[in-house]
Amino acid sequence: MPQLFGFNKVAIRGPKPLPFIGTIGSLYKLLNDPVDVVMSLRSRGEEVVTLMDQNPAVIFVFGSERNREVLSQPAVFRHDEDLIKAPPETAMGKMRFGMVVINGDLHKRHRKLMQPAFQKSALDSYAPNIVATTRVMLEQWKIGEVSMVDDLCRETVLAMTMKCFYGLDIGKDAHELGHLAAEWGKTLVAPSTILLPFNIPGLGYWKSLKLGESVVAYLSAIIENKRQKGNEQKDVMWSIMNARDDEGKPLTEDELIAQSAALFFAGHETTAVTLAWTLFLLERHPAIHAALMAEIDTILGGRDPEVEDIQRMELLNRVIKESMRIFPAVPFLFMRVCAEDATVGGFGVPKGSNVMISPLAAHHDPVRFPEPKRFMPNRWIDMTPSLYEYMPFGAGARACIGMLFAERALRLMLPMVLQRFRFSMAAGTRIDRLTRGNILHPRRGLPMRIEAASASAPQPAPITGDIHQLLEY
Ligand code: HEM
Repeated sequence: MPQLFGFNKVAIRGPKPLPFIGTIGSLYKLLNDPVDVVMSLRSRGEEVVTLMDQNPAVIFVFGSERNREVLSQPAVFRHDEDLIKAPPETAMGKMRFGMVVINGDLHKRHRKLMQPAFQKSALDSYAPNIVATTRVMLEQWKIGEVSMVDDLCRETVLAMTMKCFYGLDIGKDAHELGHLAAEWGKTLVAPSTILLPFNIPGLGYWKSLKLGESVVAYLSAIIENKRQKGNEQKDVMWSIMNARDDEGKPLTEDELIAQSAALFFAGHETTAVTLAWTLFLLERHPAIHAALMAEIDTILGGRDPEVEDIQRMELLNRVIKESMRIFPAVPFLFMRVCAEDATVGGFGVPKGSNVMISPLAAHHDPVRFPEPKRFMPNRWIDMTPSLYEYMPFGAGARACIGMLFAERALRLMLPMVLQRFRFSMAAGTRIDRLTRGNILHPRRGLPMRIEAASASAPQPAPITGDIHQLLEY
């Protein structure tokens, strides 16, 4: 758990803690609605701001220079190795090897061993499976019904990931493992699990320990099965199992389990929510939807997409980029912990203090992205922001290892959805945002009526909700 108390004052300013409830109140606000907190801190116009005046427990940095300063020094601003506390022999304890809680040489070694699974040749080999699983899953989306489209996206991406990551076909095992792992991922990083790490029935920590055992049992069985089959399989886990470091050593079984679970946690919800937000944005913007349909029809002519089509679908690429700008699936990077006394933007920050970086704040910077709340895919025709200005996948040594996989999956899946369906939201629907486990969700889902793609396009009905803090149209 990050250190949040017991710091001496620093020179960095921030809002005064709330009367009576002080630090606890500010931390609660951050946990409850980090988007609101970050937008309000950014509006102070400073590059380095504390959540609580002069208290380095949580420091926000803004602007590409400050983002670069922190993200280009992974040895100083480290991932929190104590985020997950559990006895090492438990399934949850194995997650101490998970990608997002390791640092230094261990991180470098694991990243190198996982890299071949995300190289171009490997990505090309997953594409037919992305298309095939999506095709089958889309048969379950029901025309004429109002459905939570974010749930449908989650189920569809789940099936796709189970196939591409673990080689599991759509069916009982894939469904069960997918749901157990998704639930485990949620409990593992839930504030209640981190703040109350006690093995008492009913607590989040207890639930997480139990879920972890089931997921790890599944993953061990998959690994064993792959070892027995022996032949080359086109999935991520197979590639990682067979990778060797410079001394010819593979990941140990515990490391392999931790990394394959970490990939699922990092890759599943993020991709699903990006697909869902993009469908929502297209529903709100019929003219852009129509232009995108024209591109899809011209290039695909009704067939399923293939890898070669992706580069030619320029508007599709811009739509996805712009969607990830407005609604980045990861609005906040993992909090970085200072491994030593350091400086940020010229301010001294003590060892143990925590630094937050927000892709969401970067993407809504009106200087870099004029009219930041407007969904304007064509702004990408002549815009090339730096790595630290546009960073839906993070930046630096800890940038998303699955970026190319996710981009490819989205570029194949989105046209497949749009070739079949169009969506509409009822007047008065309330769409609020919710940041849970670092991911930006629609709080109560995205209820939309599903029609055939050929249905006529109504004007979008007025909707309400705090989503308008991020989106204007
Ligand atoms: C649209 C989908 C995705 C988004 C928006 C996304 C975003 C991110 C971001 C912002 C980070 C950096 C976190 C930080 O610096 O604190 C990250 C890291 C990571 N992502 Fe993704 N991701 C996506 C899909 C995926 C997929 C599909 C996979 C796996 C195949 C994946 C695996 C990872 C891993 C393992 C890390 C940790 C890398 C490290 O620490 O070295 N992500 N992702």
